[in-house]
Amino acid sequence: MIIYGTTSLYGIIGKPVEHTISPLIHNTISERMGIDSVYVPFRTDGNLSDTTRGLYSLGVRGINVTVPYKTSIMEHLSAVEPLAAAIGAVNTLKYTDEGYRGYNTDILGLGRELDSEGISVKDREVIILGAGGAARAAAFMCLERKPGSMVIANRTLEKAELIRKDLERYACSEGYEGEAVNIKAVTTDSLTGPGSSGLIVFQCTNVGLSPNDGDCVINDRDFYGRVAEGIDLIYKPAQTMFMKYVEEAGGRAYNGLKMLIYQAVCSYEIWNDVRVPDDVVDEIEIKLSER
Ligand code: ATR
Repeated sequence: MIIYGTTSLYGIIGKPVEHTISPLIHNTISERMGIDSVYVPFRTDGNLSDTTRGLYSLGVRGINVTVPYKTSIMEHLSAVEPLAAAIGAVNTLKYTDEGYRGYNTDILGLGRELDSEGISVKDREVIILGAGGAARAAAFMCLERKPGSMVIANRTLEKAELIRKDLERYACSEGYEGEAVNIKAVTTDSLTGPGSSGLIVFQCTNVGLSPNDGDCVINDRDFYGRVAEGIDLIYKPAQTMFMKYVEEAGGRAYNGLKMLIYQAVCSYEIWNDVRVPDDVVDEIEIKLSER
C-alpha cells in the first residue's frame, strides 16, 4: 500500500483496540477496489470529546467505534441515524460538514448476512438468546424485518425485559413502518419443552466462545429439533457447540464471521458511496478463516 498526499484516513477507536481485525478488512477492500484510503487503529485515552474533535479537525473521513464507547460516543455527534438512536449504540461515524454522523452497521451487517444466505425473518418465529449489546443489535435488525413473533431469552430476565421495552417503544415510533409484533422476554430455562418448530434462533451470548468451545447456553436436544436456522454471532471457534446441536437436529447453522465482515463492508459503503463486490467479501472471508 502506498500513502500519497491525497490518501484519505479512516480508523477505529477503542480501548483496547489492539485485537481488531478491521484494518485488515478495510485495507483489503481499498486495495482490491483501487480506492486511495488507509485505515488504522487509534487507541483513545477515553476522553471522547477530545478524541472526536481531534479526529474531525484532522479530517479523518470515517471512524469505527468499538467497546466500551458505542453508547457514550453518541453525545459527541452532530446527528445519529434513527435506528442507531433507537438501539442506543453507534459503531460508525461519517465525516460531514456539520460534524460526525453516527450509524449502526452491526445491525446492517447482520441483515446483509441474512440476505446473502437467503434467510428470511418475515412472519417467522424468532428467538434471541442473550440480552447484551449483540442481542440488542440482532433484535432490532429482526424487528425491522417484520417477524411474526419474537422471544428474547436471557439468564437474567430483567435485561431481556429492557430490550423488549426498547423494541416496543421503537415499534410505536414514527420511524417504524411495520405492524405490531408480539415480543416476549423470558428466562433461557423456560425455552425447553414442547413448542412450535421452524424457529430462527440467534445465539448472542458469549457462551461457547473460544477457549470454552464445548459450552452452550442451551443443551436440551429437543429444543434444537424445533430450530430451522441457527445463527451464532460467535466466529471463534468456526463451529460452536450451538451450531453442532442445530446441525445434528437437521437445521442449518451459521457462525458470526460473515456478519463481522459485512459490518465492516457496510461502514465502507457508507463512507465511500460504493458497493463492495461479493468476490472481495469472499476473499476476506477466506483470509480471516485461515488466521
Ligand atoms: P455483548 O456485547 O457481546 O453482547 P454482553 O453485553 O456482556 O456482551 O452480554 C453477554 C450476554 O451473554 C448476556 O446476555 C449474558 O447473560 P446475563 O445478562 O445474564 O449476564 C450472557 N451470558 C454470559 N455468560 C453466560 C453464562 N455463563 N450463561 C448464560 N448466559 C451468559
